Amino acid sequence: MQTPIDRTRLESLAHQETERFISANPTSRQLAQAARPHLLSGVPMHWMTDWGTPFPLFVDHARGVHFTDVDGHRYLDFCLGDTGAMFGHSPGPVAALVRELAERGYTTMLPTGNAARVGALLAERFGLPVWQFTTTATDANRSVLRWARALSGRSRILVFDGCYHGTVDDTFVRLTDREARHRPGLVGQVHDLTLHTRVVPFNDLSAVEAALADRTVACVITEPALTNIGMVLPDPGFIEGVRALTRETETYLVLDETHTISAGYHGWSGALGVVPDFLTLGKPVAGGLPAAVYGMSREVAKAAEAYLATKETGHSGMGTTLSANMFTVAAIRANLEQVMTRDAYWHMTATAAYLAERLEALFARLALPWCVTQIGARCEFQYCPVRPRTGVEAEAAMDDTLEGALHLYLLNRGILITPFHNMTLCCPETTHAHVDTLVDTLAEALEGLIA
Ligand SMILES: Cc1ncc(COP(=O)(O)O)c(C=O)c1O
Repeated sequence: MQTPIDRTRLESLAHQETERFISANPTSRQLAQAARPHLLSGVPMHWMTDWGTPFPLFVDHARGVHFTDVDGHRYLDFCLGDTGAMFGHSPGPVAALVRELAERGYTTMLPTGNAARVGALLAERFGLPVWQFTTTATDANRSVLRWARALSGRSRILVFDGCYHGTVDDTFVRLTDREARHRPGLVGQVHDLTLHTRVVPFNDLSAVEAALADRTVACVITEPALTNIGMVLPDPGFIEGVRALTRETETYLVLDETHTISAGYHGWSGALGVVPDFLTLGKPVAGGLPAAVYGMSREVAKAAEAYLATKETGHSGMGTTLSANMFTVAAIRANLEQVMTRDAYWHMTATAAYLAERLEALFARLALPWCVTQIGARCEFQYCPVRPRTGVEAEAAMDDTLEGALHLYLLNRGILITPFHNMTLCCPETTHAHVDTLVDTLAEALEGLIA
C-alpha cells in the first residue's frame, strides 16, 4: 500500500541524521576505530554492526529505564536489551544480590539450595512441574529439540515461517516460493536442514494438520505469537488448535516464551490456559544475566529419566559447564521472587497500553495506514493497515529505509527502540512521561516526512 511518506524527504532525513550521529558521538567513533583491528567487524558480535548507525554506539552504563553512552548522552531505553532487560537495567534485588554474592563463588558444577527453590517457583508460575537450566534461550530450545527427538523416536520438527528461536540450526528454515529453504543469512551450514525441519505458515491449522499427519514430527516449536518478524498474533483458537493437533498425533508441543513472557505473570500460555509439553524461557529470567530455563510435563520428565537410565553417563549433547552456576541461579530466584512480580506486570502492561493508544492516535491523526500490536509490556507498530497473520505478510510490511531513518532520528534525540523492527518494551520504571517523549519525538519525525 502507498503511504503518504515522501521518499525524497526520507532520503534527506536519513542523511541528516547520519551526519548528526557522527558529530555527536566522537568517543564512540574513536572506540569503533580502536576496536576495528582486533574484533571481527570491529564489534564483539558481528551483527552489532546491523543497527543502522554509521558506527556502533558504545555504552558506558545502564540503570532502570535509562542507559548512558561513552559520550555522556543519556537515553530512554525502549529496547531493553531486546527483552533481556525487560524488568529494567540492574533491577534492584538482583543488583543487591550480585553485590552480596560477588565474593562467594560463581561456579562449582554442583547444585545449590536455590536451584531447588527456583524449580518450585517455575513450576508454580508456569504449570509445568519439572525444570532444567541452560545459559541461553538458544540452548534451552536446542536441548528441548534433542529431548523431543530422543523421546519420540522421530527426527523431524515443525516450525512456522518467520520464526526465530535463537541460533538453533534446525529452526533456520523459511518458506521461499512455498518451498522450505535455508534462511539466506545462515553462515557455514553444511547439512540440509530441510530434511528434518518442516515449515508452514503461522495461523494455518490445515497446514499444521497436513505436516503432522504422517507422525514423523517429534515436536512443533513456536512462540505463542511471532515476535521476531514484526509481530504476528495467533488467530483466536490457533494455539489451542495446534495443541489439539499435537496431542492427536502424539507430537510434542514446545512453546518458546522468551519474548512472550511480556504477556503477563504466567506468560502467554498461562494466560491462555494452554499447557505445552515443554516451555522455554531465557533473556530476562535472571534480570539480564546470562541464564535460561526449560520446563516439561511430568510424563515427559518420567520418560526422560527412563531414557537416561538406558544411556551411558556423560556427553548427552546437552548442558554446558557454566549453566546452572550458583551465581545465576541465585539471580533467577531473586528475579522471580522480587522483580517479575504481578505488580511489575500490572504497571508495565498499563504503560504499554498507553503507548499503544498514543501510537494509534498519532497514526490516525497523520492518516498513516499503520497498525499497532501490544503483548503485555511489549508494543509494536508495523507499516500495514491490518495486522499481519503470517510471516510473509509481516515481512511484506517492512520498510528498512523508513525504519532506519526513524530509529536514528529517535536515537539522536535520546531514545532507543529495538532494531530490525519497531518493537518497544516498557519496564517497571517506564512512565507515561517517557511514553510521551517517545511518541512526541516520533510525531516530529513523521510530520516532516508526510508528503
Ligand atoms: C523467541 C526467542 N527465542 C529464543 C531466542 C534466543 O535467545 P538468546 O539469543 O538469548 O539465546 C530469541 C532471541 O531473540 C527469541 O526471540
